[in-house]
Amino acid sequence: MIDFHSHIIPSVDDGSISFKMSLNMIENSKRQGVKAICATPHFIVGEYEIDRIEYEKSIESLRKATSDIKIVNGLELYINPELPYLYEKDNIWGINNKGYLLIELPMRDFPIYTKDVFYELRLLGLNPIIAHPERNIAMLKDPKLLMDLVHQGTLIQMNAGSLMGNYGDRIKKFAESLVDKNLAHILGSDGHNDDKRNTNIKEAFEIIKSRNLDLYKWILNNEEKVLDGQEVEKLEINLNKRKKMFSFFKKN
Ligand SMILES: [Fe+2]
Repeated sequence: MIDFHSHIIPSVDDGSISFKMSLNMIENSKRQGVKAICATPHFIVGEYEIDRIEYEKSIESLRKATSDIKIVNGLELYINPELPYLYEKDNIWGINNKGYLLIELPMRDFPIYTKDVFYELRLLGLNPIIAHPERNIAMLKDPKLLMDLVHQGTLIQMNAGSLMGNYGDRIKKFAESLVDKNLAHILGSDGHNDDKRNTNIKEAFEIIKSRNLDLYKWILNNEEKVLDGQEVEKLEINLNKRKKMFSFFKKN
């Protein structure tokens, strides 16, 4: 199990508030059976712009203080038309400093420039991953927005907490419907602390295993590839579940 999304770097965003808390979060990941955790603080242009050298220092300190788990570079990039330019300037970086970039959208909207930004990133040889789309209200109301991104080759990072019901029933049901349709490629805890928004992830893997065994196997076969910046195996959207999924969407 790999956790692709966490806020374990202390005191840089709204995540961990201390080195001690970060270590608690990492210890929890180990207990969960996680073998690699990506440290993905928010990067919001003009708001949270973590400096690369400071980031490296912080992540190195965490690595020195832990063992038996990989702590992997990353960022949670808030969508912005400047992302391709910032990448070229070396101000932002991908998962494991390779080609997959974790990108979040506003909670309620789907900015009109989203597809253009993703397209420009692809021209640079990069692969966008959309962070927790199941929590985005615009995509919940119109899942075609998400399907279009996936058809273009975008991967989906689902939050473990969405399947565990941490964000409410509506998000849980949407997350389940995405799992049923093979619309989840990697998981993240999106852990922010060692309390309620923790680094638990195992239960979500179990839910996927029981709902969609083929998808569970695909994730375990491909998550290492994402970490290494390699191309993943093709995963078809599961049309058999289409009726069920659309009947859910109609209710909303
Ligand atoms: Fe996050």
